Amino acid sequence: MEINNDILENDEFSEDEVIEDIDSEEIENLKSFDESDITHEEEEIDYSDEYFSELAVKKQYIEELEDSLDSISEIAANSFYQAIQVLGDLAALNERRFYEGSHSRFVAHWSAEVASQLGMSDTDIFEIRTAGLLHDIGKIGYESRMLAKFTAEMTPAELDVYKNHSYVSYQILKQHPNFDNISKIILQHHERLDGSGFPNKLEGKEIIPGAAIIAVVDMFHNLVFKRPKRLLDKTYNAQQYLKSRENRLTNSIEYLNVKSSSLFDTRVVDIFCENARKEWGELIKKTVWRIQLNKVEEGMVIADDYFTRAGLLIAAKGEHITKGMKKMMIRFAEVGEIPKKILVMK
Ligand SMILES: [Fe+2]
Ligand SMILES: [Fe+2]
Repeated sequence: MEINNDILENDEFSEDEVIEDIDSEEIENLKSFDESDITHEEEEIDYSDEYFSELAVKKQYIEELEDSLDSISEIAANSFYQAIQVLGDLAALNERRFYEGSHSRFVAHWSAEVASQLGMSDTDIFEIRTAGLLHDIGKIGYESRMLAKFTAEMTPAELDVYKNHSYVSYQILKQHPNFDNISKIILQHHERLDGSGFPNKLEGKEIIPGAAIIAVVDMFHNLVFKRPKRLLDKTYNAQQYLKSRENRLTNSIEYLNVKSSSLFDTRVVDIFCENARKEWGELIKKTVWRIQLNKVEEGMVIADDYFTRAGLLIAAKGEHITKGMKKMMIRFAEVGEIPKKILVMK
């Protein structure tokens, strides 16, 4: 029941006049009404026309403010995406001679794919994709002669300069607050689990997940698609090129599997190699994979020697896996004598 304080407090009205339009039950309620029942909040509410018009003005003001904020954040978001686009094009231009401009886009696409298959959030996936696109931005301005080489072919002086590129990329991007996480992923994309990477020789969990993903995809693309001098040689025909590409795919998958857990994150290698098998399955014939012992199939070939800690040879490189052998290996793996994942040819 609504009570009008003005009516109750107005001396010009007798109590009987005030209540003449009210039924008997309400009369009882009204008589027992105590002013202290009115809460502090109720006292403060002023329902006058002035109050409502003021409220309408405030509402309109808030709506206008929200609209302005929306357009400001839209402009900021657009300029952020444009900045990524421009920087991405610059990176592609810089690498055109060595990878036909495909490197950064390949790393961005497959790193985001792996991140998504690992169940990472949309924000993480976006940052990893962007970091992939911009990870080598610090190489802009580096000598082409040096960039065409694999690190193993570089002189010590060239290697010093080359090793600086992830830090240079980080320095360029960290200026912008939107690039905070992205620049950190880029800074770490050459770090390796065993601490042999650069620039900060981080180890294991010190390496952030985005960087651990890009490390694998970046290495794979370099191994398969970077064109060493002989591929640029005019006497090198299409057939030889295809054959070499096939070998490179096989060798690169094998390299990632062999270095999985010492240099690269095992889960990332497993997911990426599975994608590679689907994508280039036809080209990747017999190659080495690191797989869980219970997923090993009869007929696969062991690709490494496996000894117990006491030096007993359990399985030798080149041996075909039999049912009995698989059982025995699982038993040794369960007690920690050999790894639970082994290298096999399939
Ligand atoms: Fe790099
Ligand atoms: Fe790269």
